[in-house]
Amino acid sequence: MSRPCFVTVEGIEGAGKTTCLELLRVRIEARGQRLLVTREPGGTPLGEELRNVLLGHRHDGMADDTELLLMFAARAEHLHARIEPALAAGSWVLCDRFTDATYAYQGFGRGIDLERIRALEDWVQGPRRPDLTLLLDLPVELGLERAGKRSAPDRFESQAMAFFERVRRGYRELARAAPQRFRVIDAARSLDQVSRQVVDEIDRFLDEHGL
Ligand code: TMP
Repeated sequence: MSRPCFVTVEGIEGAGKTTCLELLRVRIEARGQRLLVTREPGGTPLGEELRNVLLGHRHDGMADDTELLLMFAARAEHLHARIEPALAAGSWVLCDRFTDATYAYQGFGRGIDLERIRALEDWVQGPRRPDLTLLLDLPVELGLERAGKRSAPDRFESQAMAFFERVRRGYRELARAAPQRFRVIDAARSLDQVSRQVVDEIDRFLDEHGL
């Protein structure tokens, strides 16, 4: 039996992560794999409370370092309580965002030194890294327009356009630096085209794992 994999989905707001996650879930389960679908920040009762703190507007003036550390606090709990036990029990894990989001948002977006993030990544995760990351890439304007139609903007969605331009650029740099892990999807295209590529990518990955 091949070992279970840890798959993550990334992208700026309005990139279409929810649709992508559902497609991935269906394809992975269709190959007979058990699967935990989860998200960050969140995924545990404590993590979901931290998510409310991070996304809500009660702490609008939060320091950048506080934001970074709360992201990793939620992640530590998530790894301890859900992700590692699931992988150890043979289940695949599909996560809506993970540490690439920290590099993109807190690193490139807020301007925190990437080496600090790397230190926290090593500390909190040990050697754990995603096996596959789908990056849904699209122009910021289009993403924000799509996201804006959904609900009142959260603390991140309220950031200026320039912030999301840095986040997008960050994600693209991360993908360029780790091409064996990342698959970049042009999410500006029609839902049909995007869905087809997502399905192709995960099917190929599953084939490579002999599933
Ligand atoms: P979403 O997952 O519903 O899109 O919202 C989560 C928000 O949190 C999103 O704006 C990105 C942000 N975020 C970070 O800034 N750093 C992180 O490490 C993670 C996981 C999310």
